[in-house]
Amino acid sequence: MSGTGPERGALFISLEGIDGSGKSTQARRLAETLRATGRDPVLTREPGGAPGAEDIRRLLVEGDPDRWSPETEILLFMAARRDHLERTIRPALSAGRDVITDRFADSTRVYQGATRGDLRGLVDDIHDRVIGIDPDLTLILDMDPEVALTRGLARRSGEDRFEDFGLAFQHRLRDGFRALAAEYPRRCVLIDAGRNPDAIATDIAALVAQRLA
Ligand code: ADP
Ligand code: TYD
Repeated sequence: MSGTGPERGALFISLEGIDGSGKSTQARRLAETLRATGRDPVLTREPGGAPGAEDIRRLLVEGDPDRWSPETEILLFMAARRDHLERTIRPALSAGRDVITDRFADSTRVYQGATRGDLRGLVDDIHDRVIGIDPDLTLILDMDPEVALTRGLARRSGEDRFEDFGLAFQHRLRDGFRALAAEYPRRCVLIDAGRNPDAIATDIAALVAQRLA
């Protein structure tokens, strides 16, 4: 199902990619770009993006890597996403505002669905039943995991549960995101994220302008 009705012209955009690939940086830049053209985007993130979902976020991103089983983790991410959808995304799109989210359902398809056993079927089933929407445009920031991991760990935010799975895990994630881009070629665009932030922002601005035209 598509994110928005054409009558509104509001765009639902997600940024995806491995940890440290520059998603938050580019999400902010895109929001600034859209604001400069007179649009009024909502900039949000997952897990989180609404007060209840932010509470669930803390359960997910802090603590031991093996704190949750993969199945439990899927349910927690979906609970957070449902709250985010109800409280933030749907109201914004209904008001005709663009939504830019730093991660959405593709993160669950890849992190929970494709890296530790094959749980993609379960992820898709729950997604269809309780979320039922995908973005109009998904920008997948693609880059060498080794470089991305160095960027991410330099931050040391205390939210490193997934980074703590290690480099081999990040390589599987990258492959997973590239496979998704091939699976959804109309919605997903792979972006070379190993470049300087300005070059990446310019590409993204052009892609979004194209979708808005
Ligand atoms: P993510 O949200 O994907 O984890 P961030 O946008 O938080 O990534 O970026 C991770 C770190 O890398 C931050 O310290 C950020 O300033 C830096 N960074 C972001 N984009 C680039 C880039 N294109 N080149 C070099 N460093 C970057
Ligand atoms: P995020 O804050 O985007 O981390 P980063 O800035 O390091 O990219 O997301 C927190 C972690 O949650 C991240 O490692 C990816 C993971 N995650 C999942 O495993 N499944 C999901 O569905 C989502 C939304 C995030």
